[in-house]
Amino acid sequence: MQLERLLQKHGFGTRKACRALVRHERVAVNGTICADPFADIATPGLVFSVDGVAWPYAEFASLMLHKPAGYECSRKPQHHPGVLELLPLPLRERGVQPVGRLDEDTTGLLLITDDGQLNHVLSSGRRKVPKTYLATTRHPLDQALVDRLLVGVLLNDEPAPIAAAAAEIAGERLLRLTVTEGKYHQVKRMVAAAGNRVDALHREAVGALALPADLQPGEWRWLSAVDLQKLGYLPS
Ligand code: URA
Repeated sequence: MQLERLLQKHGFGTRKACRALVRHERVAVNGTICADPFADIATPGLVFSVDGVAWPYAEFASLMLHKPAGYECSRKPQHHPGVLELLPLPLRERGVQPVGRLDEDTTGLLLITDDGQLNHVLSSGRRKVPKTYLATTRHPLDQALVDRLLVGVLLNDEPAPIAAAAAEIAGERLLRLTVTEGKYHQVKRMVAAAGNRVDALHREAVGALALPADLQPGEWRWLSAVDLQKLGYLPS
């Protein structure tokens, strides 16, 4: 792939801007500065760098973010900064979007991608991708509440009760809950309908992909092939 086209694809601006980056010797390919914007670059396993920052060649940009509290997932954040502000500009320029939404005050695993197929597979209600949350509750927990969640609770505007795929007490006020839908404020509404209240919410996992213990709030990393497999995603 032509170097200037490769840079454009990775979010480094217009073709003209990318050409200028190369001509100003700000781009290295596999460790060597390349000043020819039209050089034909082999992409498998490629690592290029711009101003010394290394980037892997990525057909799609698919990432995980440890979402901190105080960030909105909506496309047009209104009251708080948007989660995409936590990413480097080239990734934002590629048009990545959060997969589903976490509330502004929810923390934990958020997937972000510009791969429409991945986004669709994970968001589609039909696939029933499990999402596991740790909820800190206002009142102490008991098994009766867990049982109500497992049997199903009726939420406003929903025609039928919604049941947790899994629920267990993880501490006096800590509830681990897995749901397969992605309804608005779903966990908070389910816990309220079961007779308690969520004071804090953290997403631990999506499918078999858990938030890595060493990924700090606000940090992101690329999804590996193994991560994608854990999400049950085998791209066509
Ligand atoms: N359920 C909620 O209530 N909030 C979230 O952010 C995610 C799931």
